[in-house]
Amino acid sequence: MTKKNSKITVFGLGHIGLPTAVLFANSGLKVTGVDINKETIELVNKGISPVVEPGLDELLNRAVLDGKLVATEDGVAASKSSNVMIVVVPTPVDKFKKSDLTAIKSACQSISKGLKIDDLVIIESTIPPKTCEDVVIPILENSGLKAGEDFGVACTPERALPNNTIYEMTHNARVIGGINKESADKAVLLYENITNGKIIKVKNLITAEMVKLMENTYRDTNIALSNELAMICEELGIDAVDAIDAANHHPRVNIHIPGPGVGGHCLSIDPYFIVEMAEEKGVDSTLIKNARNVNEKMPQHVAEMVENTLKEAGKQIKKSKIGVLGVAYKGNVADARETPAEPLIKLLKEKGAEVYAHDPYTSRDVIESFDAKPVSMKDVLNSDIVVLITDHGEYKNITPDMIVNKLFICTRPILNPAKFKEKGVLFKGIGRI
Ligand SMILES: NC(=O)c1ccc[n+]([C@@H]2O[C@H](COP(=O)([O-])OP(=O)(O)OC[C@H]3O[C@@H](n4cnc5c(N)ncnc54)[C@H](O)[C@@H]3O)[C@@H](O)[C@H]2O)c1
Repeated sequence: MTKKNSKITVFGLGHIGLPTAVLFANSGLKVTGVDINKETIELVNKGISPVVEPGLDELLNRAVLDGKLVATEDGVAASKSSNVMIVVVPTPVDKFKKSDLTAIKSACQSISKGLKIDDLVIIESTIPPKTCEDVVIPILENSGLKAGEDFGVACTPERALPNNTIYEMTHNARVIGGINKESADKAVLLYENITNGKIIKVKNLITAEMVKLMENTYRDTNIALSNELAMICEELGIDAVDAIDAANHHPRVNIHIPGPGVGGHCLSIDPYFIVEMAEEKGVDSTLIKNARNVNEKMPQHVAEMVENTLKEAGKQIKKSKIGVLGVAYKGNVADARETPAEPLIKLLKEKGAEVYAHDPYTSRDVIESFDAKPVSMKDVLNSDIVVLITDHGEYKNITPDMIVNKLFICTRPILNPAKFKEKGVLFKGIGRI
């Protein structure tokens, strides 16, 4: 796994695959990026990143200019000319909340057609436990080669956070499991080219698969607890964030921050991979399912808050103009996958409201695809009621006089409710003093 003898192919040039490819290329290794999206390939080969991520454009440009990174659609040819294949393709859930491994299977099929003795295949995508054993390895063995004997397999699920991906990929601890010691050791040597973070070798592939799912399930469950506590606090007239802050001073307590629901490609999906496997094995996963349920119902709670707040002000939700601030699933990113804004907008429209939305990062097309009208921040603030969904930096500067009709639902603790209430704004939701 030295710079001289390794040639890498990265399958999937998205939010995680492209930074991975670019970091390896800038470490001096020769990298081929494979994607099924022609536009992505064209952009990458021009040194332009199709995903918004701080620092990525510059690193990509350098890698392409230095001739270290080339993108192609031809995964078979790329595999034939590489000795390490890294898979970072999407792993969503279907409408029944079961894992959809279509992209993993398709990438592995391409790899199997170009697989050679001593190659190493690494899965970075987040996958249900046992996917390497049950899905990845059988497809790779269609090559006629035997996993663990003729070629290596390792799993190192990526845990980087969007908007801080480059830093996290180069500094976070990384978990690596292999089909055998040789595969894991090779993968460790490889990732040492791009990370200063601690590398934790776990016993096998399934442990590595599970670690990532456990992390995100812990966070999803913790947020569900926080959301439930916040809803109870709301009824009791307690400032939930204040109470959580105080509780977190306990040395062994770390309650997460409540919000309008959980989005993104990780937390809202990964727990289902554990549930799916638990069901297959006949093990109870009630807590994990309930946590998902609580978080998935949060947009409904926010929609009810909107309706009740309008009622309190003597208005009806039907035909009201509702302004939504932020549709991205979290602050300062464009990513709106699984965002709670989408079901919220749907629920508000079902109640007969007109919904307008602003997001400084997410494109107008995304807002329109959620069936809201993209407008300026000023127009949103002019609505009958304003609902803040995303904690974008820009929204931290909102002042009471900007809320024209004095009705405000805040689902993120970024503003001080007292300041709004002083100026006659009917402020509902959470805040921070
Ligand atoms: N986005 C995150 O924050 C994050 C963080 C950690 C881990 N992950 C995991 O990383 C994996 C990738 O997620 P992402 O956010 O980068 O996805 P993404 O949608 O941003 O990018 C995936 C890319 O893979 C391409 N692709 C799809 N099928 C392909 C195939 N068969 N061959 C080659 N390319 C293919 C797509 O065109 C796309 O460009 C997922 O398993 C996800 O759970 C994501």
